[in-house]
Amino acid sequence: MERKDFYFRKAKEEGYLARSVYKLLEINKKYNLIRKEDRVLDIGCSPGSWVQACLKLKVSEVIGIDIQEAKVEDNKFKFFKKDINKINLSNWGEFNVVLSDIAPSTSGNKDLDSSRSYELSLKAFEITKKVLKENGNFLVKIFQGEEFPSLLTEIKKNFIFCKSFKPKSTRSSSKEIYIIAKGYRKAI
Ligand SMILES: C[S@@+](CC[C@H](N)C(=O)[O-])C[C@H]1O[C@@H](n2cnc3c(N)ncnc32)[C@H](O)[C@@H]1O
Repeated sequence: MERKDFYFRKAKEEGYLARSVYKLLEINKKYNLIRKEDRVLDIGCSPGSWVQACLKLKVSEVIGIDIQEAKVEDNKFKFFKKDINKINLSNWGEFNVVLSDIAPSTSGNKDLDSSRSYELSLKAFEITKKVLKENGNFLVKIFQGEEFPSLLTEIKKNFIFCKSFKPKSTRSSSKEIYIIAKGYRKAI
């Protein structure tokens, strides 16, 4: 059986809304990004498997944004059905952790998809710089293309620790990669 089927079935069996939860769980086990009582912003959160994982980790609150509906209901989860290019960040407060699994709908054209992914992930980083607490953590997905090194370089400037990582549960054909950044420094 292919790996994709394994994680898809495992998510169903364990009550998670998407197989992508195993990417977050693997990253969090290795890098300890999310801790109990953290306040988390989840950019591109739908259907909500990362929200489910955060709630299991006993965070204090998760704020999620997506253009599609989220399928999680919990009093510690607040959802905003919004395009990240059109959000107003005032009154959101600060977060200990920002997660972004945001991704464009794929067109089949790898260059176009990676360029769209870069634009979305760069926007997620711009939002992060406004709302992340000093010393906070950031996780962002990007489709690897020619813009990937420049995003990594930009993020590195604001964090004590920063590296890219491809989780085991990522499909072998996928160009997606995650940037893990810990220890936010506002002033650079
Ligand atoms: C891979 S999915 C996220 C899966 C999620 N982490 C989970 O575990 O359930 C990527 C999400 O990015 C969202 N998205 C794409 N463009 C967006 C935009 N401009 N603003 C907000 N969300 C967007 C999509 O609607 C999609 O739900």
